[in-house]
Amino acid sequence: MKSAKTRAVFAMLPVSLGVAIFHASALAQTPMFDPAKVQQGMQIAPVTLNTQGKDPNLVGYGSYLVNAVADCNGCHSAGPQTEFAMGGNPYFNQPTKVNPATYLGGGRDFGPFPSASGNFPHIISRNLTPDFTGMAEGGSTFDKFRTIIRTGMDMDHIHPTCSGPPDGKCIPPPFNGDLLQIMPWPTDQNMTDDDLLAIYTYLSAIPCLEGGPNEPPNRCVTPVKTMAIASPKNATVVSREIQLDGTKSTAGNGGLLTFQWSIPQGSPSAVILHGNTATPNVQFSQGRGAYIFLLTVTDTSGTSSSDVATITYAGN
Ligand code: HEC
Repeated sequence: MKSAKTRAVFAMLPVSLGVAIFHASALAQTPMFDPAKVQQGMQIAPVTLNTQGKDPNLVGYGSYLVNAVADCNGCHSAGPQTEFAMGGNPYFNQPTKVNPATYLGGGRDFGPFPSASGNFPHIISRNLTPDFTGMAEGGSTFDKFRTIIRTGMDMDHIHPTCSGPPDGKCIPPPFNGDLLQIMPWPTDQNMTDDDLLAIYTYLSAIPCLEGGPNEPPNRCVTPVKTMAIASPKNATVVSREIQLDGTKSTAGNGGLLTFQWSIPQGSPSAVILHGNTATPNVQFSQGRGAYIFLLTVTDTSGTSSSDVATITYAGN
């Protein structure tokens, strides 16, 4: 973040420098952008934005930079054939309509690099949309995003520098394979921290898309953890036999769970009928007391989780 002092200096300059105008702000931490550009940015965003918990100035100005200035989507969509929606291709004299299904999702193939002849890797634009975390560019922090744009560093190391003959994956010297190619970071690195924060915030507000180089499958879906959930909790019953319930338990890989109910130390003993099912019956054979039943679930990859159901038997 630019310091308040630097921003105050900017504010004293009576000039509008191309893209951004900074005003001194009472809230020094909140960047102030040209309201007309913020509003324009909100209007031209081609997808529905999730602005929850985000500074609308950052989102709007980020959209302005992404959609009116830097043409990120020109390269970070899947390619010219699908960049625009059906009937919305301006190059066909149609009213422009960006295709939300490819918007900033990456996958555009720029061909073999550095040359069409030779065993060289294709350079393919990356997916800039947030993942299930809601953070831009597949869960990046702002610091990481800023470092990428400032240095051009390829944190995924998709195409290292060749140490021998080209193998279809590496890039030959004098190119540095640790750097992003084609991506105009040598220009984008000149943006201010506030500009980059605006872009980052906007990229966190757009919808997640699947796909793109090095992206895991189901990147938009919050992973489910393997978790035992035993019920009832803190129940008091008078019936000598009741049914326990482990059906709310979840399996991490979406697969099947095995169930095992037992009586841990510290609990009066009880009879468990069908203790390897989700819904066993139990009998309070020791009379009144506080019974504990331990449920352990195990998923198909062997990951386990435990939880307890606690029941006070108050019957006769
Ligand atoms: C001229 C085409 C082009 C433009 C315009 C462009 N990019 Fe890129 N960008 C690329 C390509 C191609 C790559 C992947 C490069 C590689 O694999 O070496 C990339 C990579 C990136 C990465 C690295 C992602 C990762 O997973 O590490 C980020 C971040 C990024 N671009 C952001 C942006 C933003 C933000 C904009 C708009 C301000 C933008 N790009 C505009 C072509 C472009």
